Amino acid sequence: MQKILVTGGCGYIGSHTIVDLIENGYDVISIDNNSRSNPEIMQGIAAITGKSIKNYKVDLCNFEETQAVFQENTDIDGVIHFAAFKAVGESVENPLLYFNNNIVSLINIVKCCDIFSVPHFVFSSSCTVYGNPDESPVTENTQLKKATSPYGYTKQVGEEIVEQSAAAGIFNATLLRYFNPVGAHPKGHIGELPIGKPANLVPAITQTAIGKLPQMQVFGNDYPTKDGSCVRDYIHVCDIAHAHTLALHRLSKNKQEEACEVFNLGSGNGYTVFEVIDTFEKISQTKLNFSVAARRPGDVITIFANNEKAQEKLSWHPRFNLEEMMQTAWNWEKQLDNLK
Ligand code: UD1
Repeated sequence: MQKILVTGGCGYIGSHTIVDLIENGYDVISIDNNSRSNPEIMQGIAAITGKSIKNYKVDLCNFEETQAVFQENTDIDGVIHFAAFKAVGESVENPLLYFNNNIVSLINIVKCCDIFSVPHFVFSSSCTVYGNPDESPVTENTQLKKATSPYGYTKQVGEEIVEQSAAAGIFNATLLRYFNPVGAHPKGHIGELPIGKPANLVPAITQTAIGKLPQMQVFGNDYPTKDGSCVRDYIHVCDIAHAHTLALHRLSKNKQEEACEVFNLGSGNGYTVFEVIDTFEKISQTKLNFSVAARRPGDVITIFANNEKAQEKLSWHPRFNLEEMMQTAWNWEKQLDNLK
């Protein structure tokens, strides 16, 4: 049984990926300092899989503590590195926090992979690396533009660090560029747990509908899109999670065509903010309280994926449509409310 270290295992995408890995026969350990996540999510993972996962509460910016985890687990076959800060607005206000946290942690984990000869590495990247693209869909070969935020820049630099480490022979690597992950596990035990007021669209919608937030804002209705709101590629978090398992399969079967490969993980469909709200209102049979506000600084107008490379080379085929994404997100929000 292959042992995989997941960093950020208590986070939104990390926790869903752990479930997928366990269901596909992997042995998993996690490192998460819980600075932006809730360790209770491990109970949700156990409720779905019947397995208890060990989480090391370690800050990856601390090299000695990180190295100690590898010393205790000398049989790690692969690392999936999720742990990072991801709030675009916060990164604009405090860029050094993002450069320090996201880059130092990555360097430390790559160093450990080198010292302990870990052969496979998967990096959580983002469509944010494309900046404001000239056209969509974007393919993996679309030119990367200047990042629109310090957060986005840490993903661009992160990709370079991983790619050049792979070129130097430290490991074989996969960069996964997520578009907009949303939704929750259909069994309902895990989902997104935003700390404080949610910055992302779907938790803002569900928290408003349940009454945690009085009203939500649509940031801009005067963009050059079909209804004036921004266009994004929403993709179910379980589809994103499964792509990590497939990336590990490809790495361990040595099918890589290059030491470092990159894949877009999006559904291939672009939806406007108003379309997402309409879909939510339809599946939840509620009327959402929203108002139109000014454009949010740093927002890209339109971006959606060409996902053919992931379909072809990873055999990755997204299974959830927008209705299912919104339904599972809504079920999760209602369940959280019941636990109160
Ligand atoms: C951005 C990044 C993504 C990153 C994510 C992390 C880009 C293209 N995408 O996603 O890579 O992983 O942040 O947080 O840079 N919206 C509202 N009202 C709200 C919240 C959002 O109208 O209360 C709108 C936004 O203006 C945007 C869309 O909803 O048009 C999606 O926003 P959000 O969920 O925050 O994700 P991105 O900004 O696309």
